[in-house]
This record gives sequence, C-alpha cells and structure tokens, in this order.
Amino acid sequence: TTPIWLDCDPGHDDAFAIILAAQHPSFKLLGLSTVHGNASLENVTYNAHAILTAIGRTDVPVYAGCAKPFMRPAVHAPDIHGHSGIDGTDLIPDVTLPKSPHSNNAIVKMRDALMATAPQTAALVATGTLTNVALLFATFPEVAEHIKVLSIMGGAFGDRPDSAGNVTKTAEFNIYCDPESAQSVFSNPVLNHKVRLIPLDTSHTVLATAEVRERLLTGGTKLRKMLHDLLIFFAATYERVFGITAGPPLHDPIAVAAALPTEEIQWKWEEVAIRVDCAGDHVGRTVKLRDDGERVRESSLGGEGKEQACLTKVPKSVNAEDFWKVMLRAVDVSDGK
Ligand code: BDR
Ligand code: CA
Repeated sequence: TTPIWLDCDPGHDDAFAIILAAQHPSFKLLGLSTVHGNASLENVTYNAHAILTAIGRTDVPVYAGCAKPFMRPAVHAPDIHGHSGIDGTDLIPDVTLPKSPHSNNAIVKMRDALMATAPQTAALVATGTLTNVALLFATFPEVAEHIKVLSIMGGAFGDRPDSAGNVTKTAEFNIYCDPESAQSVFSNPVLNHKVRLIPLDTSHTVLATAEVRERLLTGGTKLRKMLHDLLIFFAATYERVFGITAGPPLHDPIAVAAALPTEEIQWKWEEVAIRVDCAGDHVGRTVKLRDDGERVRESSLGGEGKEQACLTKVPKSVNAEDFWKVMLRAVDVSDGK
C-alpha cells in the first residue's frame, strides 16, 4: 500500500478525491489538510469533515491549512461550487467541528506524517491551490526529498479547444489562485521526476456523463444519492458556465488515481518542464518549457541563467473507463460492499 496525504479544498470533485484516497485498498490515507480555494477555509474544512463522516472514515485526521495565498487575496468559486463549496444536496451530514488545538499546524502535521513513512514510498496529492504545499516544502525541505510522488490537479495547456483555462482564457483555477506557490513547486529541483500533473487537458477527457451518474446511483444508498446530487449540481454548473453538456469533468480524483501504485488505469505520460506566469496578461497560465528532458535536467540542476524547473509528468492520455471503475469501486467500499 501507498501512504497518501491529501491536500484539498472540497469542492464537488474534491469530495470524490477524498473518497478515492480514503477507500482504495492500495492507499493508506494518513490525513487531510485543507486550503483556501473553492470556498473559504472554514467552509472547505467543514466539508472535508462532512465527507469523511458520510463514508464512515472519521478516523482520518483533518487539519486546516492556509486561508489565503502569501502574495494575493484569496479567490473563491461560488459560481462553480456554490457558497458552501459543495452546494446541491441536503444529504451532507451535520458535523461538529472539533475545537481544534490543531487548527494552525497543518504543515507540521503533514511533515510528521510524511516523514514517518519509509523513504520514497509516500504520495502527497494536492487538489486545491498550492499554498500549503509550497509552505510545507519551504519550511521542511526534507519532505520533498523523502516522498515518492507529488500528484497535483492543476494547470491547462490548451491541448483541447475546451481546456485552455477555466478562470481566464489561459489559466486554470488552482494555479490561478496562487501562481507564486505553484511556480515554487514546479521550479523545485528536488522534485525532479516526482511530480505528476493532471491539467484540464486530461480532466476534460474524464466526464461524469449521465451513464456514469446512473452507475453511481445504482443501489440508492444515502451516500450514493448525495454523490449523485453533487454531480447533478456540478453538471448544471458546467452547462451554464462553460456550455459543456456531456457532463462535468471530475478533475480532482484523477490526481489521486495518478498516485496509485497499481496498474488498474492505462496512462500514457510525457515529461516536461513547466513554468507558471505570475504576472502580465496571463497570470496563472502553465507553460511547457521544453520537452527536451536532458537539457531541462541540466538547467534545473543549476545551469547559470537558465530557467529552473523540475521535470514533471503530464498525461498524454488516460483511459476514462478504467478511471471510473476504480472510482466507483471506492464508492462500493464506502457502502460496505
Ligand atoms: C479545479 O478547481 C476547482 O474548482 C476544482 O475543485 C478543481 O480542483 C479545477 O480547475
Ligand atoms: Ca479542488
């Protein structure tokens, strides 16, 4: 099994990421941290507790991380996820948040949990803005060295006509909200070869179609109804805001699936170096620097005057049906099947 830590901002699709990380038998979920993003830190932290409650995994600890980026005000997405972050259902369980002595030390908890794993075994998955992750590596650089994989949902390269950007024409939400933190991650030479990035170009090939939503609902448990409601809300959002009628892309759990040690999902990958625009007309845009591995590796290791970047794996393709089998199996586990 792979020890995994999930940093998230639930979020309709983050809810599915939590379920996959918590319930796939190949993962041991060490904990969740929350970060500003889809909604306020307070709301996304509540939502993380609520989703864990809905799947009977309140044993997983939750820590609230950063409420805003270092260099900018926080941006939320009520137009996409509603004010709560997971609008669209009245089946979210009520939770009483622990009066937490832990509320301000998410970074320390991440460090402790990840450093307690065997070297080169753990996966850190980020499905929100990268503020917590950047702070973690800045404060405890040994964690970047120690983990095996950092899997991120974020970015957009415009490989597909509908995948250029979802906040601006060129920027994806998670990167747009905190581009400086994202750039610090993509330029960290210690992370060379360790980062897997799921951009919109990939997530827009994995749609929660009506057929998928029906499969999810089969059995009709309270949990399935809640998840189905969430997808119906998300589908309506995608139709209204983006004109996508085939179903909403389920971005975040794909980044969790990318950390699976098993071969249940067929992927094709390329390795590229990435830069994030932090100023100018295209703030939050992710740019592939070059696909020439050797030259990038040299420059990332200190070539003078060259751009610093680690080599990051980005899917060329993913088999969507394989992904749905894995995702729906995690819902079965949550049902106690
Ligand atoms: C990303 O932004 C958020 O709205 C989603 O949860 C996902 O992480 C997609 O751009
Ligand atoms: Ca998210």
